[in-house]
Amino acid sequence: MLILSDLNNRRMSRIFLALMGLFLLSGIQAQNSYNIIPQPKQLVAMPGSFTLKRNNAVTVGSELFQPVAELLVNQLNRASGFALTVKKGTSGTGIVFTENPKLKPEGYRLNVTAKKVEIQASTGQGAFYGLQTLLQLMPPQLSGTEATALAVSIPNCVIDDEPRFGYRGMMLDVGRYFFPVEDVKRFIDLMAVYKLNTFHWHLTEDQGWRIEIKKYPLLTQVSSVRKETMLGHYRDKKYDGKSYGGFYTQDQVKDIVAYASSKYINVIPEIEMPGHSQAVLSAYPQFGCNPDKIYQVATRWGVSEDVLAPREETFTFLQDVLTEVMALFPGQYIHIGGDECPKTQWRESRFCQDLIKKLGLKDEDELQSYFIRRIDKFVTSKGKKLLGWDEILEGGLSPNAMVMSWRGVKGGVEAAKQKHDVVMSPNSFFYLDYYQGDSKTEPLAIGGNLPLSKSYSFEPDLPELTAEETKYVVGIQANVWTEYISNIKYAEYMTYPRALALSEIAWSPKAPKDFPAFKKRVEKHMPYMDALKINYSKVFLKQ
Ligand code: ACM
Repeated sequence: MLILSDLNNRRMSRIFLALMGLFLLSGIQAQNSYNIIPQPKQLVAMPGSFTLKRNNAVTVGSELFQPVAELLVNQLNRASGFALTVKKGTSGTGIVFTENPKLKPEGYRLNVTAKKVEIQASTGQGAFYGLQTLLQLMPPQLSGTEATALAVSIPNCVIDDEPRFGYRGMMLDVGRYFFPVEDVKRFIDLMAVYKLNTFHWHLTEDQGWRIEIKKYPLLTQVSSVRKETMLGHYRDKKYDGKSYGGFYTQDQVKDIVAYASSKYINVIPEIEMPGHSQAVLSAYPQFGCNPDKIYQVATRWGVSEDVLAPREETFTFLQDVLTEVMALFPGQYIHIGGDECPKTQWRESRFCQDLIKKLGLKDEDELQSYFIRRIDKFVTSKGKKLLGWDEILEGGLSPNAMVMSWRGVKGGVEAAKQKHDVVMSPNSFFYLDYYQGDSKTEPLAIGGNLPLSKSYSFEPDLPELTAEETKYVVGIQANVWTEYISNIKYAEYMTYPRALALSEIAWSPKAPKDFPAFKKRVEKHMPYMDALKINYSKVFLKQ
């Protein structure tokens, strides 16, 4: 800037601008060789590098940065054998975290020179993202679990970064298969590496209820266990004959929520209703349409016809459940499902038909809207916000309810037009249980065809929405449904590298989609995923 103020003749300023252009261009080119996923908003490469010495300190200028600095020190000490410590202060010659209140809460500035590395942020979260970027600039082995003799060297650069979207999510279905606490933490760890900030925990399904509710012990004693599990594709109609179950105690839930929070990830619990509730009915048949029926936890994949009935007792039950759930999850959103509720039983039920008449409703679809509106009122009265799949839009919602668009983007478009916040999670781009390569050679999946290039091609700014309406699109999410994904390694295979596409669309500035360039960057990023021992799919290399 000093140079610019000295320039007072037009010719000189033209030369200056031309030089600046070249400089920025080299920055953009360097961005590819610096290879950070998700790509930062702005990166200017500089010659030279910084090398951390054994006796350097990691200095924090604010308490806010202490936990992030400790993460860094623990990782580097483990990998490099260094004995780094964290110290308080505002200047230092090693790695320095400095408070900069001008930066957005999730933004950071990373400045690497031969003398020091400085991460500026206004929050711990911003500093955490600066740290994730810094780790990707170091030799990948330093992010691994094994000791390495490699120097801690970082190429010089200035990075100014902040996310495009405030909601950057991933969903894990633990209903179809149960994922133990350590596996859920692993899922969260990897999300954090790619600057994702919302973990949507799909906790209840026809095939299993997974969260302890103290007032209703049968949910974990009965609803969490199914008689057997399908083998192969559901079309094969084969079963393993082995009982299968699992659930999280409330203490475990608290532990996971706190763990996620330490990685700046908010957890949104999902309690499905009125559909996807066969497991509930196996323990509490009185909440169904046929209280005398013997229900079992579902064993077949697919959508069950056994749904909750909109009885007063059912609402009391759900409100009790949600009250316990809300106490466990400090975030503002509670996901109540609302998707895929077959209406056959409501059509055949005397109780439901009488209720439709009594309430002056047109049909069973309006009865579903009545159901969701009641729950919405309850959730809102407790100071929380309702979130549900796009079916919840059909009957009118409180203004602060948020919609998750899964049947393509149509529901999301409609929700944004109605001024509801929207998370775009279209199945055609972000259902990670779909095949990412040839179904003849890939491990079994539900179906579909979702190569990395397709996920990467999603653009959340939609032509159907005006600029004003587009503001309601708060972010995007990918979903790991687990009918065919029985363990965390399998889940990683289906999730990575497609989650890298999600991360980049959610975080990096809007830009023309250049899949060949992205593919090259993912390929160059593979040593980093190897260091983290991510069981990612390599099928994209042949596409
Ligand atoms: C869904 O895939 N049923 C939300």
